[in-house]
Amino acid sequence: MKITDIIEKKKNNKALSQSEIEFFINGVTDNSVADYQTAALLMAICINGMNAEETFFLTKAMIDSGDVIDTSFAGGIVCDKHSTGGVSDTVTPIVVPALAAAGLKVIKMSGRGLSHTGGTIDKMESISGFKAQLTEAEIKEAVSKSGAVIIEQSKSLAPADKILYGLRDVTATVDSIPLIASSIMSKKLASGSDIILLDVKYGSGAFMKTAKQALELAKCMVGIGTSYGKKCAALITSMQQPLTESIGCNLEMQSAVNVLRGEKNDLYTLSKEICARIFILAGLFLNTKTAFAAFDNLMQSGAVLQKFNQIIQNQGGDTSSLNRLKPAFNHKEIKSDSGGYVVQINAEAVGKAVATLGGGRIKKHDVIDKSAGIKLKIRINDYINTGDTVATLYCDDGAKIADAESILKDFYKLSPQRAKEHKLIYAYVDGLGATVKK
Ligand code: URA
Repeated sequence: MKITDIIEKKKNNKALSQSEIEFFINGVTDNSVADYQTAALLMAICINGMNAEETFFLTKAMIDSGDVIDTSFAGGIVCDKHSTGGVSDTVTPIVVPALAAAGLKVIKMSGRGLSHTGGTIDKMESISGFKAQLTEAEIKEAVSKSGAVIIEQSKSLAPADKILYGLRDVTATVDSIPLIASSIMSKKLASGSDIILLDVKYGSGAFMKTAKQALELAKCMVGIGTSYGKKCAALITSMQQPLTESIGCNLEMQSAVNVLRGEKNDLYTLSKEICARIFILAGLFLNTKTAFAAFDNLMQSGAVLQKFNQIIQNQGGDTSSLNRLKPAFNHKEIKSDSGGYVVQINAEAVGKAVATLGGGRIKKHDVIDKSAGIKLKIRINDYINTGDTVATLYCDDGAKIADAESILKDFYKLSPQRAKEHKLIYAYVDGLGATVKK
């Protein structure tokens, strides 16, 4: 087999066979296919697409390029959730303990933030002493004590994806549904859970700018997960504004703790929807009504907060530091120079401004300033007056505040009329790919 023939075939818009896809991925992994050949094939896939069968075989070949975690030691139903990435998307510290409090097992492998999106592991490390890299023995001990761990994703999962992603990033081939779906699903399937609930974001702060694109990606990923024999489903949720008013590691962890201690907001609502869907997939409840009520009860009883504290302690974290999560002392308020209803918020600009303040990574190896962040004072359909504060920027470095301020120029739009109804949860895609609009 020759890689040039495979590139030629995809260039001519023909479907690749399983053995051709395996030949390509094996060559990427052992370096026998050159970067320029990989990039050429990625571009051909980006332009001509892949059918469901090809996407499945691409995902499988990427899984087979590395380790597959055996989670049978957990002794129960192992579940996972994955967000395609957003701004202020801090559901993991709520969802993981809630699932464990309901008796499910969770070995949550999360990533770090890059560009405008935050990463769960960076946020968890706002808790002093918290360790996200555990040995196999430590993972087993933590799961046997509390049913859950939150750890950094192992580098040995789907190593071919790491090489492909690096090339996609610099060859304008990121935005392809089969490439995104196989990239995400190879890592999720290699992590060995029985249930995978995907939270596919759409809007200004997401990869997918429209609900239609998000739906297409969700159906593709659910199709792969189901074909792999997993219970897999997806929610389509809004990233038309940051999920909460807090963006940046300390601020976001503080906002998750506030929800664990009783606050109700969009973070609560989304965490509840995700958990309820997983409860149903796991067979704990028959419908959303009973599953929602179970989530509310677990939260109100304090069982989820207690589980969260146990998870932190198992991983060396100091729970008393949760009361000391603060943004930087130095701050600047941005005021509105006009009035009206907030009809648009550029969540991506807000995420980029936080990264510029030091609260996220511009480059892969940047060190994050946990105290840098933004408190937004506006939500879609709020009415504001001239002179109202729309955001407060926190950072000890004044020059960075000035840079972030310029990114935030015109980051929201006002109108005399309200925006059309803004839905946090847009749709649910079940294991057969059927869509239920909310
Ligand atoms: N996240 C991934 O892991 N891969 C993609 O291609 C896009 C988002």
